Amino acid sequence: MSVLLTNIGELVTNDPAHGGSGPAEGGTVPGGRGTAADGIGVVPDAAVIVEDGRIAWTGPAASAPAADDVVDLEGRCVLPGFVDSHSHTVFAGDRAAEFAARMTGEPYTGGGIATTVAATRAASEDELRARGRALVREMLAQGTTTVEIKSGYGQDVATEARTLRIARELTPETTYLGAHTVPAEYTADRAGYVDLVTGPMLAACAPHARWVDVFCEPAAPTAFDEDEARAVLQAGLRAGLGARVHGNQLSAGPGVRLALEVEAASVDHCTHLTDADVAALADSWSPADGGPGTGHGTVATLLPAIEFSTRSPYPDARRLLAAGVPVALATDCNPGSGYSSSMPFVVALAVREMRMSPAEALWSATAGGALALRRDDVGHLGVGARADLTVLDAPSHTYLAYRPGVPLVHQVWQAGARAVGRSSQPRPTT
Ligand code: NIG
Ligand code: FE
Repeated sequence: MSVLLTNIGELVTNDPAHGGSGPAEGGTVPGGRGTAADGIGVVPDAAVIVEDGRIAWTGPAASAPAADDVVDLEGRCVLPGFVDSHSHTVFAGDRAAEFAARMTGEPYTGGGIATTVAATRAASEDELRARGRALVREMLAQGTTTVEIKSGYGQDVATEARTLRIARELTPETTYLGAHTVPAEYTADRAGYVDLVTGPMLAACAPHARWVDVFCEPAAPTAFDEDEARAVLQAGLRAGLGARVHGNQLSAGPGVRLALEVEAASVDHCTHLTDADVAALADSWSPADGGPGTGHGTVATLLPAIEFSTRSPYPDARRLLAAGVPVALATDCNPGSGYSSSMPFVVALAVREMRMSPAEALWSATAGGALALRRDDVGHLGVGARADLTVLDAPSHTYLAYRPGVPLVHQVWQAGARAVGRSSQPRPTT
């Protein structure tokens, strides 16, 4: 069964085969499908053919081949589904009061994580599953078709494993974050907690996880220092997991260095970076010594909804892009530091607050997220990609930032099936 989606006003493919558009600085990803620098592969007046859940053809509508079924998108814009490569969406409890206190002057230290840990331990499996499902549905309705979900609010063997079992029902991109913070009962025995995280907890969680992560932040008393974080990541790697790191959120700590040392797929936050961090991230993709590179360096994942919700300075995206570091954008949806599930909001923040162009921000929210998850089947609409498409009730991708806060997502297709659809939405009068 094939479906022709036609009368697309602007099709964004992220496919270099469709040529560059949307200038971006730097960016070379050896062996990759394309980069932000290649542009976002825009096709005006376009059509797409979807067959067996995959993209079978893209190009000008006027030359589209026939298909079994036809959907007229009436001039709307079509994007690859967003790839949200960083979220904490299986938890219980509420920290609205902590947010309100921050907005009147309290700093963010990560200390409130303990509140969510207590609520998550006390919650039933059904409550956790219901919350996780609702948030993933909420993300899908906003155009996110691939999501990564971390544990980290259990911090005991049973609750971490339960969180990951539930997360695995929602996505294959599950991340073991037992080393989110040191729980209160281990304050006087940090080494004992690292032993638990690298021993019995890892054994119980690894079967449900693809990735291991750690909150490496010496500036936060409950997070992990360089040696502790290294032990956690190396144990995860030995168990067959891929590495990712929460690093450089509150200070220019060792997170980036460590992420590079273990060849992590991504280092996330990157709010405080040294020149050496930026150069080393770039070098992981294109070695300055002219060496071949591995083709899969470490992505810098920026999470501007966290700076928004903690009222902190935004990361310097331009510095990373100028150095040629691939940048991903993600929500980091969590109950504490930022409770937005919206990739359109993140794109708007990246454009307005971090001076990314609309094209760069869109690439980072789709192809960049896929690179951060080392996935080549999502984040672009090249032939053979999974048919994950977000249809905007707008003529171009620029509207994501141009009309912030407006629910522009009109339809979402996931693996070739319409997962979200609005029928009688009035068209914008542009
Ligand atoms: O990614 N940095 C640490 N972890 C989360 C915050 C979680 C929380 O405050 O509950 C983050 O921002
Ligand atoms: Fe996070």
